[in-house]
Amino acid sequence: MVWFRVWVLFLLWGSCLGRFVVEKNSLKVTSPDSLKGIYECAIGNFGVPQYGGTMVGIVAYPKANRKGCQSFDNFDISYKSKPGGFPTFLLVDRGDCYFTAKAWYAQNAGAGAVLVADDKLEPLITMDTPEEEDSRADYLQNITIPSALITKSLGDSLKKALRNGDMVNVNLDWRESLPHPDDRVEYEFWTNSNDECGAKCDSQIEFVKNFKGAAQILEKKGYTQFTPHYITWYCPEAFLLSKQCKSQCINHGRYCAPDPEQDFSKGYDGKDVVIQNLRQVCLHKVANESGKPWVWWDYVTDFAIRCPMKEKKYTTDCAETVIKSLGELAISFVVYGYMPPLGIDLKKINECMGDPDADEDNPVLKAEQDAQIGKDSRGDVTILPTLVINNRQYRGKLDKAAVLKAICAGFQEATEPAVCLSEEIETNECLDNHGGCWKDEASNITACRDTFRGRICECPVVKGVKFVGDGYTHCEASGSGRCEINNGGCWNKTQDGKTYSACVDEGCKCPPGFKGDGVNCQDVDECKERLACQCSGCKCKNTWGSYECSCSDDSLLYIKEHDTCISKRASTEVGWSFLWVIFFGLVLAGVGAYAVYKYRIRSYMDSEIRAIMAQYMPLDNQEAQNHIQHAEI
Ligand SMILES: *[C@@H]1O[C@H](CO)[C@@H](O)[C@H](O)[C@H]1NC(C)=O
Ligand SMILES: *[C@@H]1O[C@H](CO)[C@@H](O)[C@H](O)[C@H]1NC(C)=O
Ligand SMILES: *[C@@H]1O[C@H](CO)[C@@H](O)[C@H](O)[C@H]1NC(C)=O
Ligand SMILES: *[C@@H]1O[C@H](CO)[C@@H](O)[C@H](O)[C@H]1NC(C)=O
Repeated sequence: MVWFRVWVLFLLWGSCLGRFVVEKNSLKVTSPDSLKGIYECAIGNFGVPQYGGTMVGIVAYPKANRKGCQSFDNFDISYKSKPGGFPTFLLVDRGDCYFTAKAWYAQNAGAGAVLVADDKLEPLITMDTPEEEDSRADYLQNITIPSALITKSLGDSLKKALRNGDMVNVNLDWRESLPHPDDRVEYEFWTNSNDECGAKCDSQIEFVKNFKGAAQILEKKGYTQFTPHYITWYCPEAFLLSKQCKSQCINHGRYCAPDPEQDFSKGYDGKDVVIQNLRQVCLHKVANESGKPWVWWDYVTDFAIRCPMKEKKYTTDCAETVIKSLGELAISFVVYGYMPPLGIDLKKINECMGDPDADEDNPVLKAEQDAQIGKDSRGDVTILPTLVINNRQYRGKLDKAAVLKAICAGFQEATEPAVCLSEEIETNECLDNHGGCWKDEASNITACRDTFRGRICECPVVKGVKFVGDGYTHCEASGSGRCEINNGGCWNKTQDGKTYSACVDEGCKCPPGFKGDGVNCQDVDECKERLACQCSGCKCKNTWGSYECSCSDDSLLYIKEHDTCISKRASTEVGWSFLWVIFFGLVLAGVGAYAVYKYRIRSYMDSEIRAIMAQYMPLDNQEAQNHIQHAEI
């Protein structure tokens, strides 16, 4: 029955008017010189293109398994990059198997990206996922490397350079793959309410469920404007009265969808799908009018969970129950004062949907059909599901992180919302060899930081301690507190119950008793190097960080300050003479103090006597003062 679907239902733009746009990124060859330049390549519709970012790698072309249609394990080939090395971009030839299989085998062999060389001279095409339901489809979602199709001529040149033994260095660049004109991203999701089409339907439902949270935050804060869209087909006039068109279409053959099971005799019909699609468009329209367009995400997820075809619940009743429960949710919020009413009026939705049996246009579905036709930079929508960001079709897998990364690349630089810089969309390049950035093994601190634009190597701030350096080969803790983290990168060691550290405020400096650059310090052998304990009769013993010195003769005593041995008796005499000095000192001080005391008493008496005398006879000074006082009075 597949033939019927293909044969009877037409997309509005027909067969030859269609304009499919191949979405591209650029590939810059930086070496060898003979190939230097910027080339176009086509983004594959699977894996994770690094929208907004770039990737540098070295091209390899396998000696065997050149089409990449088998696991490279079978040939004992690995493309895992060495620590600190660039990733390998594996070049394989087109043909013999699905593009996705090539990407999967390349990824498993450790390649960082896959470049597929076209096998004929033609304009670039888009590599897509297999159309047929593939029992091994689960590997599709596991492809995480980016892929690019390159022209036959570029492929031939790259292979030639590799044959000559040149190292081929390239840079895949997605920075201009999406327009990023302003601080709001407009995006559309072309989808389908059908949940019985295998892997493709499952991945859409899964995507909506996972992306809902991020989508709603972005929408509520005004960062994005989202519009859901649904593809509809039409029935050619000659078949209008056929049983097939009647079961697949509404409004007299104007709006159709393929039968979900591709079997007209059982299950749901195409027209059930069209009606549910129409309801989802109308729900978005009504919700948008009441200022809450993000309710669409809730509805679509809930509908997929509560009204699946498998359980025979893909019905109007079930859909309306879901809409009502979204309303109730809102009402209970209002009671508690959390949120204004959602205002999803079932009546308004039904009005919007109109009469499916009427022989006239439905304005909503008509608009959907018109929107299918490409405008400006956007090609026709022919692949379901399709995501359109800033009027350009997204290529890559429908995965929350990958899509968020692409949306984030649609903001003018520096206007992207915080969610774009959060770890939710980390590229995880840092998990692999720290993205080639600086890393301190001992403290597990790295300069690698994931951003949606790719990893950056930037010396970090850890526990308030700022690291400075180039971020690639060198970072060093600076400022106070730096010795707290991994001892400031300096040497430290505990031995024999003693701990020495080379970390000082200005950097690393071996402590006294050690020599070295501060990162490595060795004990100085003071005895061997004749730095201490050199007196004749001295016995030198090196210790860790210091030394011990004694006199070979037990009757002698070692005096460190003078690096000499003296007799113990002499030292006692010295002791006595000290006491004598102290004694005389004390006597002298006593005499001195007595003299000062005497003098102070005398001068005190003198001034008292003068004061008493002054009361009876004017003294020179006193007189002068009295004159001044008089003058003032
Ligand atoms: C894909 O990934 C999932 C989850 O990580 C895993 O369970 C599954 O086995 C993978 N499939 C293949 C083909 O590797
Ligand atoms: C949603 O509403 C906004 C303004 O409120 C409008 O600009 C936009 O076109 C509407 N979207 C749809 C799909 O109706
Ligand atoms: C190092 O840090 C990363 C992330 O902070 C963590 O996942 C990893 O387990 C750590 N490794 C060690 C050896 O502590
Ligand atoms: C070195 O210093 C660090 C941090 O100050 C400390 O955690 C570590 O225990 C020290 N190592 C030794 C051997 O003392």
